[in-house]
Amino acid sequence: MKRIGVLTSGGDCPGLNAVLRGVVRAATNLNWEVIGFHDGFEGLLPEGGDFVPLTNARTAGIMQLGGTILGTTSKGHFITKVGDGSNRTHVPPAVIEKTKRTLADLRIEALICIGGDGSLTTAQQLHEAGIPVIGVPKTIDNDLEATAMTFGFDSAVACVADALDRLHTTASSHKRIMVIEVMGRHAGWIALYGGLAGGADIILIPEIPFEHERVAEAVRKRDAEGCLSTLIVVAEGAGEKGGREHFRATATEGEYQLGGIGNIVSNEVARRTGKDTRTCVLGHLQRGGDPTTLDRILGTRFGVRAVELIAEGKFGDMVSYQNYEVSSVPIAAAVHRIKLVSPDSQMVQTCRAVGISFGD
Ligand code: F6P
Repeated sequence: MKRIGVLTSGGDCPGLNAVLRGVVRAATNLNWEVIGFHDGFEGLLPEGGDFVPLTNARTAGIMQLGGTILGTTSKGHFITKVGDGSNRTHVPPAVIEKTKRTLADLRIEALICIGGDGSLTTAQQLHEAGIPVIGVPKTIDNDLEATAMTFGFDSAVACVADALDRLHTTASSHKRIMVIEVMGRHAGWIALYGGLAGGADIILIPEIPFEHERVAEAVRKRDAEGCLSTLIVVAEGAGEKGGREHFRATATEGEYQLGGIGNIVSNEVARRTGKDTRTCVLGHLQRGGDPTTLDRILGTRFGVRAVELIAEGKFGDMVSYQNYEVSSVPIAAAVHRIKLVSPDSQMVQTCRAVGISFGD
């Protein structure tokens, strides 16, 4: 009987449990055992490992639950992305040796690492050190290269659209400008898709630097048309032309925390238009809660495919969603840079065609 390991690493997102259930079901069909490590890669470090055996019974009924039954962390000994995200570090050799020992002691023949850009960079380093790993791309940000979509993204977009629906009614009652700051780190995917789905009037994303005066102009134009309330979606990584990203906290371990641009936009719009503005920072609501049906399906397909990749011996590969099929690519192809919104993409053009301003 083969024994494999699985872990969830980095920021959590809806759909992680669907992947775990998919892995366990597919592995059980092959008569393999599955060991789930707690709190990401950290579970590999305590003497004997910190883990739980995962069975069909243990994973029954979890597909529709948000979060991860294994726990996760974006801190610890395996961090490879630090600061503003442009710096990469290396997992210390002693930590890699300890990882190898745990896997050997537990007779684990392959390790499925479910994570985003940073966690998959770690997975790639473990692969280069000779550990048989398979990657599964996870992040609400949808910023991973070499896959058309990550699971978790659709759930985050649904959360933004729901929030916009709610803000719409109060904005229109008070004839106000509502600014909603959403996640996405250095990429504007959540703002772009969530904004379009929720009927935003202005969307500000990192890939299209904006000018406060252009944003104010768009508000005035709407007023002149008789639309007295305006919904502005601002990605946390958005910035003014010639400006920079705004960080809420820089002192934590790992990557800096982005945030604050929502209030800046809100104040500038108020100052330039004389209109009443309010800011809503959606925050971790976008990461919590149940996965959408799409993320349940994508997560399950990713989990099943990860097990197939082990059976095929495709170590160092990551499952990848392309043209409605789940195939695989080298992890290295997914982590060499982040996937950004192209300013001249069809999606951006569609937004412009329905009158959405990007403040440029
Ligand atoms: O990468 C996912 C993400 O939710 C980003 O969109 C956000 O900037 C960050 O993680 C928040 O991380 P934390 O949970 O550490 O606050």
